[in-house]
Amino acid sequence: MSGHIDAVLGMQWGDEGKGRIVDWYARDYDVVARFGGGDNAGHRIEVGEQKLALRLVPSAALNPSVELFVGSGCVVNLEGALEELARLSEVGVDIERVRFSDRAHIVLPDHALLDRASEHARGGAPIGTTGRGIGPTYADRVSRVGIPLGQTLDERTFRNALRAIRSVHERALQDPSVLPDFAEMEERMLAAAARLRTAIVDGVGYIHARLAAGKRILAEGAQGTLLDISFGSYPYVTSSQCTAGGICTGLGVGPSAIGRVIGIYKAYTTRVGSGPFPSELLDAEGDRLRDAGREFGTVTGRPRRCGWFDAVAARYAAALNGTHAVALTKLDVLSGFERVGIVTGYRLGEREATLAEAMHPDFRAEVEFLDGWAEDIGGARRPADLPMNARRYIARLESLVGLPIELFSVGPEREALIKA
Ligand code: IMP
Repeated sequence: MSGHIDAVLGMQWGDEGKGRIVDWYARDYDVVARFGGGDNAGHRIEVGEQKLALRLVPSAALNPSVELFVGSGCVVNLEGALEELARLSEVGVDIERVRFSDRAHIVLPDHALLDRASEHARGGAPIGTTGRGIGPTYADRVSRVGIPLGQTLDERTFRNALRAIRSVHERALQDPSVLPDFAEMEERMLAAAARLRTAIVDGVGYIHARLAAGKRILAEGAQGTLLDISFGSYPYVTSSQCTAGGICTGLGVGPSAIGRVIGIYKAYTTRVGSGPFPSELLDAEGDRLRDAGREFGTVTGRPRRCGWFDAVAARYAAALNGTHAVALTKLDVLSGFERVGIVTGYRLGEREATLAEAMHPDFRAEVEFLDGWAEDIGGARRPADLPMNARRYIARLESLVGLPIELFSVGPEREALIKA
């Protein structure tokens, strides 16, 4: 018997509403696994009266029969993880189901400072990171000075690793005195690691034992495809792999283990932080999308930049992930717009352009407009309940992206998720 891995991935710049979609699909799985990123993610789920904001723990926490796994490609803030587990436990979630791979790297208090310093060093062109030390932690991993969770299990090894990484950080900073007191940090990290110890497992063994036992695993993407370190709008990206390829490197499996890939798209586009955004609306329509969609960051509270659905970026993301079908979120936010735009082309002078060229001063996005719909669609429960123009919009997105939309949402409640 052999299990398999399906995936739910964000296809834009994050904040597509992955949390509740993962929660919905999770009913059919035994394990939900994060394969990358850290607590820069902010996944919100609501089930009945229960509302949860998750950062590192997979979004199926309210699904009592599902095991939750923080995979090898993730980065873990020890104290943040313990706080998140405590919060989950308070609302009755059985946190014994949560396991962390020994190969995931730890985020230290130093890393948040280095994050800030590196943003500062970029002068007028900061990335606009979440400030949680994610980039510096991945940089340390690649530089081979990072600390995998497995190294926290032996006190002497951990103390040595902390000393070694601190000396690297001291050399990296112009003013090392901004780093937190070492002895105090060391004791804090040792105490946190001791409390997390029983949740740390052999990450590769964990996944492969479950595959061998025929279990169904759902890989939960964090951030979004366009923030991917390799294929996103570099350098305005996060430091991990957000695409389907990250499932192999972040869980330690081969591509043959991966089955279906569901891509989540918001019915329009948002982005937090800096960087190119071809369909951005810098006018009253953008403000209206932000207000109607309550587009403010879960982690940082920052207002999100808003714009129309970008079908060119959407097709690019679909291809990068080998996507099979789409879940479309927040369709209701577009209600009341007289016309709804879709970016259908990128141009540089006379020729077609790619997202990688979006920072060029002559880059231009072409927009197509469809008639909007005035009706509030929040109460729709079947596709047939949607006004004709909303159905036309869905059909147009399907044809432009080249994939079927199998699920769409018209509100925050679980019943507002509709099978197409
Ligand atoms: P970092 O991941 O904190 O290094 O931030 C790098 C970029 O990714 C910034 O533009 C962030 O706003 C963005 N980012 C990181 N995580 C998320 C997320 O979960 N949703 C949306 N944007 C994110």
